[in-house]
Amino acid sequence: MDKAQQDALKKAAGIEAAKLVEDGMIAGLGTGSTVRFLVDELGRRVQEEGLHFTGVTTSRRTQEQAEGYGIRIVDVDDVDHIDVTIDGADEVDKDFNGIKGGGAALLWEKIVATNSNRIVWIVDESKVVDTIGAFPLPVEVIPFGAGHVIKRFEDRGYKPVLRKDADGREVRTDESNYVVDLHLERIDHPQDLAEDLIRTVGVVEHGLFLNMVDTVIVGDPHGPRVMTNSNK
Ligand code: A5P
Repeated sequence: MDKAQQDALKKAAGIEAAKLVEDGMIAGLGTGSTVRFLVDELGRRVQEEGLHFTGVTTSRRTQEQAEGYGIRIVDVDDVDHIDVTIDGADEVDKDFNGIKGGGAALLWEKIVATNSNRIVWIVDESKVVDTIGAFPLPVEVIPFGAGHVIKRFEDRGYKPVLRKDADGREVRTDESNYVVDLHLERIDHPQDLAEDLIRTVGVVEHGLFLNMVDTVIVGDPHGPRVMTNSNK
């Protein structure tokens, strides 16, 4: 699949998911290229259809885009609930275990998701996999002592790589932390790995989102299709 085809599928999934946001709702807005299409469509609905909703964003990038359309954005601590959060994902398997954080927003994404009544992911079909892990697993790490955390990951065989930008500088999250990507190739025991990572001092959060999502809208060449998680 080339990038143009993939973008068309992401856009179709984003437009489909935008239908889930109704007047008066509080909606969590994720981060990434698929979510950009979602926010474009929500912005269109706000401007052309008079849709009124409040957004809680998972990154400053999404906040800027949404506010550009006149969407009201509030802090996650200023709401007592979130009706639905719509976000992208990097991989998802048939047990609804996923990897997120390719865009370095995993910490805010997990906080917003944890406080949402319903979680919806929008992905193109290439992200639905049998076993997660081919996509490098992002882990958000405090900069102080990060070298020791990376060494520990190396000792455990996790093949860590500190994420850098095109200028060779460490990527910083919206909380000014580093991202370390683990090149695991496949993750057969995601729950065990999640527990091991979160127990490591210096790790703030990891990109394993295990059985958290309720609905996945998959951009498919035949039209968006919906995967529903009945085990949550
Ligand atoms: C952001 O940190 C991520 O979790 C994204 O939601 C994820 O990487 C999907 O991004 P794309 O929609 O750009 O593929």
